[in-house]
Amino acid sequence: MPGLRGPSDYSREPARHPCLRINAKAPFNAEPPRSMLITTYVTPVDLFYKRNHGPIPIVDDIERYSVSVRGLIEHPKMLSMKDIWDLPKYDVTATLQCAGNRRTAMSKVRTVKGVGWDIAAIGNAVWGGAKLADVLELVGIPKFTSTTQSGGKHVEFVSVDMCKEENGGPYKASIPLSQASNPEADVLLAYEMNGEPLNRDHGYPLRVIVPGVIGARSVKWLDSINIIAEPCQGFFMQKDYKMFPPSVNWDNIEWSTRRPIMDFPIQCAICSLEDINVIKHGKITVSGYAAAGGGRGVERVDISVDGGKTWVEASRYQKPGIPYVSDDENNDKWAWVLFEAKVDAPHSTEIVAKAVDTAANVQPESVEEIWNLRGVLNTSWHKVQVRVGHSTM
Ligand code: MTE
Repeated sequence: MPGLRGPSDYSREPARHPCLRINAKAPFNAEPPRSMLITTYVTPVDLFYKRNHGPIPIVDDIERYSVSVRGLIEHPKMLSMKDIWDLPKYDVTATLQCAGNRRTAMSKVRTVKGVGWDIAAIGNAVWGGAKLADVLELVGIPKFTSTTQSGGKHVEFVSVDMCKEENGGPYKASIPLSQASNPEADVLLAYEMNGEPLNRDHGYPLRVIVPGVIGARSVKWLDSINIIAEPCQGFFMQKDYKMFPPSVNWDNIEWSTRRPIMDFPIQCAICSLEDINVIKHGKITVSGYAAAGGGRGVERVDISVDGGKTWVEASRYQKPGIPYVSDDENNDKWAWVLFEAKVDAPHSTEIVAKAVDTAANVQPESVEEIWNLRGVLNTSWHKVQVRVGHSTM
Protein backbone atom coordinates (compact mmCIF):
# COMPACT_ATOMS: atom_id res chain seq x y z
CA MET A 1 0.00 0.00 0.00
CA PRO A 2 1.25 3.49 -0.78
CA GLY A 3 2.30 5.48 2.27
CA LEU A 4 2.48 2.58 4.68
CA ARG A 5 5.25 0.11 5.14
CA GLY A 6 6.28 -2.53 7.61
CA PRO A 7 9.83 -2.45 8.91
CA SER A 8 11.42 -5.85 8.60
CA ASP A 9 13.04 -5.64 12.03
CA TYR A 10 12.49 -4.23 15.51
CA SER A 11 14.99 -1.37 15.29
CA ARG A 12 12.41 1.45 15.01
CA GLU A 13 9.93 0.72 17.77
CA PRO A 14 8.10 3.63 19.45
CA ALA A 15 8.90 4.87 22.99
CA ARG A 16 6.71 3.35 25.72
CA HIS A 17 5.65 4.02 29.32
CA PRO A 18 8.30 2.79 31.78
CA CYS A 19 5.67 1.22 34.07
CA LEU A 20 4.49 -1.30 31.47
CA ARG A 21 5.31 -4.92 32.28
CA ILE A 22 6.95 -6.35 29.21
CA ASN A 23 5.89 -9.94 28.50
CA ALA A 24 7.79 -10.15 25.20
CA LYS A 25 10.15 -7.63 23.58
CA ALA A 26 9.99 -8.58 19.91
CA PRO A 27 7.17 -8.61 18.96
CA PHE A 28 6.36 -6.11 21.71
CA ASN A 29 3.75 -7.31 24.18
CA ALA A 30 3.14 -5.46 27.43
CA GLU A 31 0.48 -4.70 30.02
CA PRO A 32 0.16 -2.16 32.85
CA PRO A 33 0.52 -3.12 36.54
CA ARG A 34 -2.77 -4.28 38.09
CA SER A 35 -3.26 -1.30 40.38
CA MET A 36 -2.73 1.23 37.57
CA LEU A 37 -5.26 -0.43 35.27
CA ILE A 38 -8.33 0.67 37.21
CA THR A 39 -7.35 4.14 38.36
CA THR A 40 -9.50 5.54 35.53
CA TYR A 41 -12.57 4.31 33.64
CA VAL A 42 -10.97 5.28 30.31
CA THR A 43 -7.51 3.72 30.08
CA PRO A 44 -4.77 6.22 29.15
CA VAL A 45 -3.21 5.37 25.79
CA ASP A 46 0.30 4.84 27.18
CA LEU A 47 -0.97 2.37 29.79
CA PHE A 48 -3.23 0.48 27.38
CA TYR A 49 -1.95 -3.07 26.80
CA LYS A 50 0.00 -3.58 23.58
CA ARG A 51 -0.40 -6.85 21.67
CA ASN A 52 1.61 -7.36 18.51
CA HIS A 53 2.58 -10.27 16.28
CA GLY A 54 5.26 -8.44 14.32
CA PRO A 55 7.26 -5.18 14.13
CA ILE A 56 5.26 -1.93 14.33
CA PRO A 57 4.74 -0.51 10.81
CA ILE A 58 5.58 3.08 9.91
CA VAL A 59 3.42 5.48 7.92
CA ASP A 60 5.61 7.59 5.69
CA ASP A 61 3.04 9.70 3.99
CA ILE A 62 -0.56 10.10 5.16
CA GLU A 63 -1.47 11.88 1.87
CA ARG A 64 -0.69 8.73 -0.06
CA TYR A 65 -2.19 6.30 2.46
CA SER A 66 -5.26 4.45 1.19
CA VAL A 67 -7.38 1.41 1.95
CA SER A 68 -8.66 -0.73 -0.88
CA VAL A 69 -12.12 -2.27 -0.64
CA ARG A 70 -12.61 -5.12 -3.09
CA GLY A 71 -13.79 -8.72 -3.46
CA LEU A 72 -17.34 -9.91 -4.09
CA ILE A 73 -18.78 -6.44 -4.77
CA GLU A 74 -19.85 -4.44 -7.80
CA HIS A 75 -17.82 -1.28 -7.18
CA PRO A 76 -14.32 -1.80 -5.68
CA LYS A 77 -12.71 1.42 -4.42
CA MET A 78 -9.54 2.91 -3.00
CA LEU A 79 -10.36 5.07 0.01
CA SER A 80 -8.05 7.85 1.15
CA MET A 81 -7.97 9.11 4.73
CA LYS A 82 -9.99 12.10 3.49
CA ASP A 83 -12.74 9.76 2.28
CA ILE A 84 -12.86 8.21 5.78
CA TRP A 85 -12.69 11.59 7.58
CA ASP A 86 -15.55 12.89 5.40
CA LEU A 87 -17.94 10.23 6.74
CA PRO A 88 -19.89 10.96 9.98
CA LYS A 89 -17.60 10.53 12.99
CA TYR A 90 -18.65 8.37 15.93
CA ASP A 91 -17.04 8.06 19.37
CA VAL A 92 -17.55 4.58 20.78
CA THR A 93 -16.34 3.67 24.27
CA ALA A 94 -15.32 0.04 23.97
CA THR A 95 -13.23 -2.41 25.93
CA LEU A 96 -10.64 -4.38 24.03
CA GLN A 97 -9.52 -7.63 25.60
CA CYS A 98 -6.97 -10.10 24.31
CA ALA A 99 -8.23 -13.70 24.26
CA GLY A 100 -4.99 -14.58 26.09
CA ASN A 101 -5.73 -12.32 29.07
CA ARG A 102 -5.01 -14.26 32.32
CA ARG A 103 -3.07 -16.93 30.40
CA THR A 104 -0.29 -17.10 33.02
CA ALA A 105 -2.75 -18.46 35.59
CA MET A 106 -3.92 -21.11 33.12
CA SER A 107 -0.34 -22.14 32.39
CA LYS A 108 0.10 -23.05 36.07
CA VAL A 109 -2.36 -25.93 35.57
CA ARG A 110 -0.45 -27.32 32.59
CA THR A 111 1.81 -25.77 29.97
CA VAL A 112 0.03 -23.66 27.34
CA LYS A 113 1.40 -22.00 24.21
CA GLY A 114 1.48 -18.21 23.97
CA VAL A 115 2.63 -14.97 25.56
CA GLY A 116 2.15 -14.99 29.33
CA TRP A 117 -0.36 -12.35 30.44
CA ASP A 118 -1.40 -11.43 33.95
CA ILE A 119 -4.85 -9.82 34.23
CA ALA A 120 -4.27 -6.55 32.38
CA ALA A 121 -4.40 -7.55 28.68
CA ILE A 122 -7.56 -5.45 28.62
CA GLY A 123 -8.31 -1.76 28.42
CA ASN A 124 -11.17 0.64 27.81
CA ALA A 125 -10.87 3.50 25.32
CA VAL A 126 -12.96 6.01 23.42
CA TRP A 127 -12.42 5.11 19.78
CA GLY A 128 -13.22 7.78 17.20
CA GLY A 129 -13.82 7.00 13.57
CA ALA A 130 -16.22 6.10 10.78
CA LYS A 131 -18.71 3.27 11.06
CA LEU A 132 -17.79 0.34 8.85
CA ALA A 133 -21.47 0.18 7.83
CA ASP A 134 -21.08 3.68 6.29
CA VAL A 135 -17.80 2.72 4.59
CA LEU A 136 -19.44 -0.34 3.03
CA GLU A 137 -22.21 1.86 1.64
CA LEU A 138 -19.54 3.72 -0.34
CA VAL A 139 -18.93 0.51 -2.28
CA GLY A 140 -22.62 -0.21 -2.78
CA ILE A 141 -23.37 -2.51 0.18
CA PRO A 142 -26.56 -1.35 1.91
CA LYS A 143 -26.96 -1.42 5.72
CA PHE A 144 -28.08 -4.76 7.21
CA THR A 145 -26.74 -6.88 4.34
CA SER A 146 -25.75 -10.46 5.11
CA THR A 147 -24.92 -11.58 1.53
CA THR A 148 -23.86 -9.46 -1.44
CA GLN A 149 -25.30 -10.23 -4.89
CA SER A 150 -22.09 -11.99 -5.79
CA GLY A 151 -22.11 -14.13 -2.63
CA GLY A 152 -19.95 -12.10 -0.21
CA LYS A 153 -20.74 -13.03 3.40
CA HIS A 154 -17.65 -12.01 5.36
CA VAL A 155 -15.52 -8.89 5.64
CA GLU A 156 -11.80 -9.52 5.82
CA PHE A 157 -9.37 -6.95 7.21
CA VAL A 158 -5.77 -7.17 6.01
CA SER A 159 -2.92 -5.28 7.67
CA VAL A 160 0.61 -4.51 6.58
CA ASP A 161 2.52 -5.78 9.60
CA MET A 162 4.45 -8.92 8.80
CA CYS A 163 4.05 -11.91 11.06
CA LYS A 164 6.06 -15.09 11.17
CA GLU A 165 2.82 -17.03 11.81
CA GLU A 166 1.66 -15.89 8.34
CA ASN A 167 5.06 -16.86 6.86
CA GLY A 168 6.01 -13.21 6.57
CA GLY A 169 2.60 -12.17 5.24
CA PRO A 170 0.20 -9.66 6.78
CA TYR A 171 -1.94 -10.08 9.91
CA LYS A 172 -5.60 -10.58 8.96
CA ALA A 173 -9.03 -11.48 10.37
CA SER A 174 -12.68 -11.31 9.35
CA ILE A 175 -16.15 -10.74 10.77
CA PRO A 176 -19.55 -11.63 9.26
CA LEU A 177 -20.93 -9.09 6.77
CA SER A 178 -24.19 -8.97 8.77
CA GLN A 179 -22.24 -7.55 11.73
CA ALA A 180 -20.06 -5.26 9.60
CA SER A 181 -23.03 -3.67 7.84
CA ASN A 182 -25.14 -3.29 10.99
CA PRO A 183 -24.67 0.28 12.28
CA GLU A 184 -25.80 -0.80 15.75
CA ALA A 185 -22.87 -3.22 16.04
CA ASP A 186 -20.70 -0.05 16.13
CA VAL A 187 -17.82 -1.61 14.17
CA LEU A 188 -15.45 1.28 13.46
CA LEU A 189 -12.60 2.18 11.21
CA ALA A 190 -10.99 4.20 13.99
CA TYR A 191 -8.46 6.99 13.56
CA GLU A 192 -8.62 8.31 17.12
CA MET A 193 -8.07 6.83 20.57
CA ASN A 194 -9.17 8.90 23.58
CA GLY A 195 -9.53 12.02 21.42
CA GLU A 196 -6.01 11.85 19.93
CA PRO A 197 -4.91 10.44 16.58
CA LEU A 198 -4.10 6.74 17.00
CA ASN A 199 -0.47 6.22 17.88
CA ARG A 200 1.81 3.77 16.10
CA ASP A 201 1.44 1.03 18.71
CA HIS A 202 -2.34 1.04 18.44
CA GLY A 203 -2.66 1.11 14.66
CA TYR A 204 -1.87 4.54 13.18
CA PRO A 205 -3.34 5.73 10.92
CA LEU A 206 -6.39 3.45 10.81
CA ARG A 207 -7.57 0.33 12.60
CA VAL A 208 -10.68 -1.74 12.96
CA ILE A 209 -12.54 -1.84 16.28
CA VAL A 210 -15.01 -4.68 16.69
CA PRO A 211 -16.73 -3.98 20.03
CA GLY A 212 -17.58 -6.92 22.29
CA VAL A 213 -15.34 -9.31 20.36
CA ILE A 214 -11.84 -10.60 21.29
CA GLY A 215 -9.12 -8.09 20.42
CA ALA A 216 -7.64 -10.31 17.70
CA ARG A 217 -10.37 -9.25 15.24
CA SER A 218 -9.67 -5.52 15.69
CA VAL A 219 -7.00 -5.37 12.99
CA LYS A 220 -4.47 -2.53 13.31
CA TRP A 221 -2.68 -0.66 10.46
CA LEU A 222 -5.43 -1.44 7.97
CA ASP A 223 -4.30 -2.02 4.40
CA SER A 224 -7.33 -3.52 2.67
CA ILE A 225 -10.85 -4.80 3.14
CA ASN A 226 -12.03 -7.84 1.18
CA ILE A 227 -15.61 -8.99 0.85
CA ILE A 228 -15.33 -12.78 0.75
CA ALA A 229 -17.60 -15.85 0.71
CA GLU A 230 -15.98 -17.82 3.57
CA PRO A 231 -14.38 -16.59 6.81
CA CYS A 232 -10.77 -15.41 6.43
CA GLN A 233 -8.40 -18.35 6.03
CA GLY A 234 -5.50 -16.61 7.81
CA PHE A 235 -3.53 -18.19 10.66
CA PHE A 236 -5.15 -16.14 13.43
CA MET A 237 -8.67 -17.17 12.34
CA GLN A 238 -7.99 -20.82 11.47
CA LYS A 239 -4.94 -21.98 13.46
CA ASP A 240 -5.15 -19.79 16.53
CA TYR A 241 -7.71 -18.05 18.77
CA LYS A 242 -9.97 -21.08 18.79
CA MET A 243 -11.13 -22.74 21.98
CA PHE A 244 -10.59 -26.47 22.48
CA PRO A 245 -11.66 -28.78 25.31
CA PRO A 246 -9.08 -29.84 27.95
CA SER A 247 -8.66 -33.26 26.25
CA VAL A 248 -7.16 -31.80 23.06
CA ASN A 249 -3.36 -31.74 22.86
CA TRP A 250 -0.79 -30.95 20.16
CA ASP A 251 -0.89 -34.58 18.91
CA ASN A 252 -4.65 -34.87 18.37
CA ILE A 253 -5.63 -31.27 17.53
CA GLU A 254 -7.87 -30.77 14.48
CA TRP A 255 -8.14 -27.04 13.91
CA SER A 256 -10.98 -27.26 11.39
CA THR A 257 -13.36 -28.76 13.98
CA ARG A 258 -13.71 -25.48 15.87
CA ARG A 259 -14.94 -22.04 14.93
CA PRO A 260 -12.89 -18.86 15.44
CA ILE A 261 -13.61 -17.17 18.78
CA MET A 262 -15.61 -13.96 18.35
CA ASP A 263 -17.55 -12.50 21.38
CA PHE A 264 -15.60 -12.67 24.62
CA PRO A 265 -17.37 -14.27 27.59
CA ILE A 266 -18.11 -12.61 30.95
CA GLN A 267 -14.87 -11.80 32.75
CA CYS A 268 -13.78 -10.03 35.92
CA ALA A 269 -10.58 -9.60 37.90
CA ILE A 270 -9.45 -7.99 41.14
CA CYS A 271 -6.85 -5.30 40.45
CA SER A 272 -6.37 -3.84 43.94
CA LEU A 273 -4.53 -6.96 45.17
CA GLU A 274 -1.64 -9.01 43.84
CA ASP A 275 -1.82 -12.83 43.82
CA ILE A 276 -0.31 -12.99 47.29
CA ASN A 277 -0.67 -10.14 49.79
CA VAL A 278 0.17 -9.39 53.38
CA ILE A 279 -2.41 -7.04 54.82
CA LYS A 280 -3.24 -5.57 58.20
CA HIS A 281 -6.34 -6.82 60.03
CA GLY A 282 -9.43 -4.79 59.16
CA LYS A 283 -11.35 -3.56 56.16
CA ILE A 284 -9.78 -3.99 52.75
CA THR A 285 -10.91 -2.64 49.43
CA VAL A 286 -11.47 -5.17 46.68
CA SER A 287 -11.74 -3.42 43.33
CA GLY A 288 -11.33 -4.36 39.71
CA TYR A 289 -13.02 -4.60 36.34
CA ALA A 290 -15.81 -6.73 34.87
CA ALA A 291 -16.50 -7.00 31.14
CA ALA A 292 -19.34 -8.78 29.37
CA GLY A 293 -18.81 -9.46 25.68
CA GLY A 294 -21.26 -9.10 22.81
CA GLY A 295 -22.78 -5.86 24.13
CA ARG A 296 -24.28 -7.56 27.18
CA GLY A 297 -24.35 -5.76 30.54
CA VAL A 298 -22.67 -6.77 33.81
CA GLU A 299 -25.54 -7.89 36.02
CA ARG A 300 -23.55 -8.54 39.21
CA VAL A 301 -20.07 -8.87 40.66
CA ASP A 302 -19.84 -11.18 43.69
CA ILE A 303 -16.95 -11.09 46.18
CA SER A 304 -16.08 -13.80 48.67
CA VAL A 305 -13.62 -13.55 51.56
CA ASP A 306 -13.80 -17.24 52.42
CA GLY A 307 -12.71 -18.85 49.18
CA GLY A 308 -16.20 -18.94 47.67
CA LYS A 309 -18.41 -20.22 50.51
CA THR A 310 -20.26 -16.94 51.13
CA TRP A 311 -20.56 -13.87 48.93
CA VAL A 312 -21.28 -10.14 49.07
CA GLU A 313 -22.20 -8.00 46.11
CA ALA A 314 -19.77 -5.31 44.93
CA SER A 315 -20.94 -1.89 43.75
CA ARG A 316 -20.51 -1.27 40.01
CA TYR A 317 -19.94 1.91 38.07
CA GLN A 318 -18.82 3.23 34.73
CA LYS A 319 -18.86 6.96 35.38
CA PRO A 320 -17.58 7.60 38.93
CA GLY A 321 -20.41 8.43 41.37
CA ILE A 322 -23.18 7.07 39.13
CA PRO A 323 -24.47 3.61 40.12
CA TYR A 324 -24.54 1.25 37.16
CA VAL A 325 -27.80 -0.41 36.10
CA SER A 326 -26.99 -3.27 33.76
CA ASP A 327 -29.76 -2.73 31.20
CA ASP A 328 -29.83 1.08 31.21
CA GLU A 329 -29.81 2.45 27.69
CA ASN A 330 -27.39 5.23 28.73
CA ASN A 331 -24.63 2.74 29.59
CA ASP A 332 -21.57 2.39 27.47
CA LYS A 333 -22.76 -1.02 26.32
CA TRP A 334 -19.41 -2.13 24.87
CA ALA A 335 -17.38 -0.97 27.86
CA TRP A 336 -16.21 -2.58 31.05
CA VAL A 337 -17.66 -1.85 34.47
CA LEU A 338 -15.47 -1.10 37.47
CA PHE A 339 -16.40 -2.63 40.81
CA GLU A 340 -15.57 -2.09 44.46
CA ALA A 341 -16.40 -3.79 47.77
CA LYS A 342 -15.08 -3.05 51.24
CA VAL A 343 -14.71 -6.33 53.09
CA ASP A 344 -13.38 -7.62 56.41
CA ALA A 345 -10.55 -10.09 56.29
CA PRO A 346 -10.12 -11.17 59.92
CA HIS A 347 -7.64 -13.92 59.12
CA SER A 348 -5.57 -15.27 56.27
CA THR A 349 -7.87 -16.31 53.45
CA GLU A 350 -8.62 -16.45 49.73
CA ILE A 351 -10.53 -13.53 48.22
CA VAL A 352 -12.55 -14.37 45.12
CA ALA A 353 -14.43 -12.36 42.48
CA LYS A 354 -16.92 -13.63 39.90
CA ALA A 355 -19.28 -11.78 37.60
CA VAL A 356 -22.63 -12.51 35.97
CA ASP A 357 -23.83 -10.93 32.71
CA THR A 358 -27.33 -9.88 31.65
CA ALA A 359 -27.83 -13.24 29.91
CA ALA A 360 -27.13 -14.88 33.33
CA ASN A 361 -23.81 -16.33 32.15
CA VAL A 362 -21.49 -16.84 35.14
CA GLN A 363 -17.73 -17.27 35.24
CA PRO A 364 -16.65 -20.89 35.78
CA GLU A 365 -15.21 -21.74 39.20
CA SER A 366 -11.93 -23.38 38.33
CA VAL A 367 -9.36 -22.87 35.63
CA GLU A 368 -8.77 -26.65 35.41
CA GLU A 369 -12.15 -27.26 33.78
CA ILE A 370 -11.57 -24.70 31.02
CA TRP A 371 -7.87 -25.38 30.46
CA ASN A 372 -7.02 -25.39 26.74
CA LEU A 373 -3.70 -25.80 24.99
CA ARG A 374 -3.58 -22.21 23.67
CA GLY A 375 -4.41 -20.74 27.06
CA VAL A 376 -7.29 -18.60 25.77
CA LEU A 377 -10.39 -17.29 27.53
CA ASN A 378 -9.35 -17.88 31.10
CA THR A 379 -12.48 -16.49 32.70
CA SER A 380 -12.36 -18.62 35.86
CA TRP A 381 -13.13 -17.02 39.24
CA HIS A 382 -10.32 -14.63 40.04
CA LYS A 383 -8.66 -15.63 43.32
CA VAL A 384 -6.03 -13.86 45.42
CA GLN A 385 -4.44 -14.97 48.68
CA VAL A 386 -4.24 -12.63 51.65
CA ARG A 387 -2.33 -13.21 54.84
CA VAL A 388 -3.31 -11.01 57.75
CA GLY A 389 -0.31 -9.99 59.83
CA HIS A 390 2.95 -8.11 59.63
CA SER A 391 5.32 -10.79 58.41
CA THR A 392 6.60 -10.83 54.88
CA MET A 393 5.82 -13.92 52.87
N1 MTE B 1 -3.56 -6.16 14.16
C1 MTE B 1 -2.40 -6.31 13.54
N2 MTE B 1 -2.26 -5.77 12.33
N3 MTE B 1 -1.37 -7.00 14.09
C2 MTE B 1 -1.49 -7.59 15.33
O1 MTE B 1 -0.53 -8.20 15.81
N4 MTE B 1 -2.95 -8.02 17.24
C3 MTE B 1 -4.35 -8.25 17.58
C4 MTE B 1 -5.20 -7.03 17.31
N5 MTE B 1 -4.93 -6.48 16.01
C5 MTE B 1 -2.73 -7.45 16.01
C6 MTE B 1 -3.74 -6.69 15.39
C7 MTE B 1 -4.58 -8.67 18.95
S1 MTE B 1 -4.29 -10.31 19.29
C8 MTE B 1 -5.10 -7.83 19.90
S2 MTE B 1 -5.52 -8.41 21.41
C9 MTE B 1 -5.29 -6.41 19.62
O2 MTE B 1 -4.91 -6.06 18.30
C10 MTE B 1 -4.48 -5.57 20.58
O3 MTE B 1 -4.62 -4.22 20.29
P1 MTE B 1 -3.74 -3.14 21.04
O4 MTE B 1 -2.30 -3.49 20.87
O5 MTE B 1 -4.13 -1.84 20.45
O6 MTE B 1 -4.12 -3.22 22.51
